[in-house]
Amino acid sequence: MSSRHVLTIDGPAASGKSSTAQWVARTLGWRHVDSGSVYRAATFARQQSPGTPATWTEPSVLSAAAGIGLTPVDGSFVPTLAGTPLGDEIRNLVVTAEVSRVAQMSGVRQWVNRVVQQAAEGHDVVVDGRDMGTVVFPDASLKIWLVADPWERARRRLQQRLGRGPSDEEIAAETDELVQRDAKDATQTVQARDAVLIDTTYLTQPEQVERIAALARSVASKR
Ligand code: C5P
Repeated sequence: MSSRHVLTIDGPAASGKSSTAQWVARTLGWRHVDSGSVYRAATFARQQSPGTPATWTEPSVLSAAAGIGLTPVDGSFVPTLAGTPLGDEIRNLVVTAEVSRVAQMSGVRQWVNRVVQQAAEGHDVVVDGRDMGTVVFPDASLKIWLVADPWERARRRLQQRLGRGPSDEEIAAETDELVQRDAKDATQTVQARDAVLIDTTYLTQPEQVERIAALARSVASKR
């Protein structure tokens, strides 16, 4: 058994998991692994092969995903496809529309879990996703369940994407999309019984990062 530290951050779509996890990892000097980026990379890889999304089967996703790797960059990992780093393309509209269905394929989940565990192996890590604290790292030293009001999640996501304050109509449309994705992801989004719930609706990002980093330091000092 290694005595490394594993901090999991799970929660619904756009709750700020990945950016918070990356920042917390940097603060602690730990590695960061974003499991959602691996599901997105697998979906993107499948999109590059022939056939409309309706024809995507689990074997065809797994075969396309065989070309995916995770390359360490700045304390985090960037997914690669056939050695080429993947950036914003894993957030394209087709990937975002199809990733929940791909993520429901049990063979794909097993494959992603292995990729994430291998990337985390032997390091102190912060891993984020939907089921990191329940399925992938059930023995994690600290588990966080990050939530925020859907309207606020939609507002933050639009602010980041548009670089300006969004209108109420824009926020309402984005809220609908987020609530729909939460529903599609419901089966794989599981709060661990021993997770610490943090509602970030009224917290700034520096505040949530500091709160989680302080919890992690406290847990790490007791081990
Ligand atoms: O975190 P992000 O929103 O980028 O994740 C994209 C999708 O990957 C989610 O909507 C969900 O369907 C899937 N996912 C998952 N389990 C995880 C992480 C992500 O099912 N641990």
